[in-house]
Amino acid sequence: MAAFERHLFVCTNVRAEGQVRGCCAGKGAEAIRERLKTLAAERGLKGRVRVNSAGCLDQCEHGVTMVVYPEGVWYGFVTPADVEEVVASHLVGGVVVERLRLKEGCLNTKGCEHRG
Ligand code: FES
Repeated sequence: MAAFERHLFVCTNVRAEGQVRGCCAGKGAEAIRERLKTLAAERGLKGRVRVNSAGCLDQCEHGVTMVVYPEGVWYGFVTPADVEEVVASHLVGGVVVERLRLKEGCLNTKGCEHRG
C-alpha cells in the first residue's frame, strides 16, 4: 500500500468543565472530525489522506485545533462551517487556508494573545 500523502490530526481531547484552557471536544471537535472524514472520502481521498483523532495538541486556547502533515500547517478556531474549505482547498488542492492558520506567535508561546 502506498504511503498516505497527508495526515490530518484533529484534537478531540476532553477535559472536565471549568478548565481554564478549555478543550477541543467541548467546542465540537468530534463532529468536525467526522465531517472531515466524510468529505475527504466523497472527494476521493480515501487511502491518500488520513484523518485521525488526536489527544491534546497543547493549543487548547485555539480549539478546535488540527495539524496537517507533511506540511506541518496548524489550524485553529476551526468550526463546522470551515470543514468544506479545508478539504477542498488544502486536502484536494494543496492550498493552505490562510485565514485559519495559527500565527507563529500563537504556537507554543506563553505570550500568545489567546492565553489567559
Ligand atoms: S484540548 Fe485541543 S489542543 Fe488541547
